Amino acid sequence: MVKICCIGAGYVGGPTMAVIALKCPDIEVAVVDISVPRITAWNSDQLPIYEPGLEDVVKQCRGKNLFFSTDVEKHVCEADIVFVSVNTPTKTRGLGAGKAADLTYWESAARMIADVSKSDKIVVEKSTVPVKTAEAIEKILTHNSKGINFQILSNPEFLAEGTAIEDLFKPDRVLIGGRETPAGQKAIKTLKDVYAHWVPDENIITTNLWSAELSKLAANAFLAQRISSVNAMSALCEATGANVNEVSYAIGKDTRIGSKFLNPSVGFGGSCFQKDILNLVYICECNGLPEVAEYWRQVIKINDYQKSRFVNRVVASMFNTVSNKKIAVLGFAFKKDTGDTRETPAIDVCKGLLGDKASLSIYDPQVTEDQIQRDLSMNKFDWDHPLHLQPMSPSTVKQVRVVWDAYAATKDAHGVCILTEWNEFKTLDFQKIYDNMQKPAFVFDGRNIVDVEKLRNIGFIVYSIGKPL
Ligand code: NAD
Ligand code: UGA
Repeated sequence: MVKICCIGAGYVGGPTMAVIALKCPDIEVAVVDISVPRITAWNSDQLPIYEPGLEDVVKQCRGKNLFFSTDVEKHVCEADIVFVSVNTPTKTRGLGAGKAADLTYWESAARMIADVSKSDKIVVEKSTVPVKTAEAIEKILTHNSKGINFQILSNPEFLAEGTAIEDLFKPDRVLIGGRETPAGQKAIKTLKDVYAHWVPDENIITTNLWSAELSKLAANAFLAQRISSVNAMSALCEATGANVNEVSYAIGKDTRIGSKFLNPSVGFGGSCFQKDILNLVYICECNGLPEVAEYWRQVIKINDYQKSRFVNRVVASMFNTVSNKKIAVLGFAFKKDTGDTRETPAIDVCKGLLGDKASLSIYDPQVTEDQIQRDLSMNKFDWDHPLHLQPMSPSTVKQVRVVWDAYAATKDAHGVCILTEWNEFKTLDFQKIYDNMQKPAFVFDGRNIVDVEKLRNIGFIVYSIGKPL
């Protein structure tokens, strides 16, 4: 029986390995992590991450050919294939701080693999890493290897949160990069055989290592660029009376452009888009390509602009001050169907409003009060460096209330900000909300999910991104 071990039981490691275990009953899969609470949660009824369909997959395989463990060394030692799916956040200090990827977790995993291995292994980069990382990993492994043969493959993950299981069941493509040597090609074939259990041959792409590593950064940069492009258009729509939904529908009909990923928003969030683009910018700078770096940096700048534009719109509409006004925030996760708040635009919007002394009442169906308070008290980039966590400031706690539903959040509020597109927000009883709010009652829809005309007829003053005011 082939044995797989995955280091890192996070948003990628957990779901990816659960699906491999489900689709490959002949393979034993162990997911290991240094975080005891995470592994405990994976072994309980309350999984550490919320992802539609995940629980079902885990329940089918856990204890059969899928295991979650903190015994990292034992499982790495026994495995034929070791996936590394640890976090690769943005560096917060030192060379490249604020841009370069922090590979501390990756390097320590690689050193541990070299330390404990007693047989040949295929080591798979599942984490998103800078192009040429495999070369560094190879050096660490081969210089410490005691004669063991390691083959490094790059197999970046393209799943999106909220649809992870769907994406893993039917990936647009699986990408595997390896060395162009016979041993490298043999390793590619071994990994390809794993995916071939359920992914059609034509959807499995094989390339050299550097193309695979760079394709992952390129894919995220292109996706984020589409959002910044449509968000830039939304500002122009507001200034001219065009409607951004009509514009994105019209351009998306062109098959060369395509209709997906053209939804205007308060800004993109999530743990990866910003970090991966900053990483790309850094790589371009290091390779003497400042113009290319600047081109991609604009995608982040427009995203920051979109978030601050939203905050300014709220404050300006509410007579230039939100001081001591209750603002209801509906949605805190970075998108619907996840409880993940990493780099969520809600953090910047809430901090902007708190800066103007608003008092916030926040509701999200999947995010806990603890998480929200922690996010609002942390500095940018601290979220993925748990050791640097700072205590919550008492003033943040006082200005922020986290409540149990949208009606509690909006009661007596002056304004409502919709920051995540949860389905339940589309069917709220807005007449009831209006009746219980201060007047004039404002709605600022950062996800364009409300029926603007209907809300205006009720009496709300409505701002919807990229739509006529
Ligand atoms: P995560 O923070 O949820 O999980 C990473 C896990 O690795 C953590 O549980 C951490 O405790 C563990 N870890 C760190 N160092 C370790 C070590 N030395 N030994 C054992 N465990 C260790 O991160 P994630 O969201 O799963 O992302 C992982 C990687 O995948 C990142 O590079 C990310 O860019 C990439 N990625 C993420 C997504 C996504 O949707 N989240 C999608 C595609 C790619
Ligand atoms: C994204 C990519 O879609 C995945 O392919 C990739 O694997 C992953 O990053 C990663 O490397 O981590 P994810 O961040 O989970 O996945 O979610 P997306 O659906 O891409 O959404 C990202 C952000 O963009 C969200 O805040 C979302 O609300 C926003 N968005 C998305 C828009 O504002 N408009 C859109 O049209 C689409």
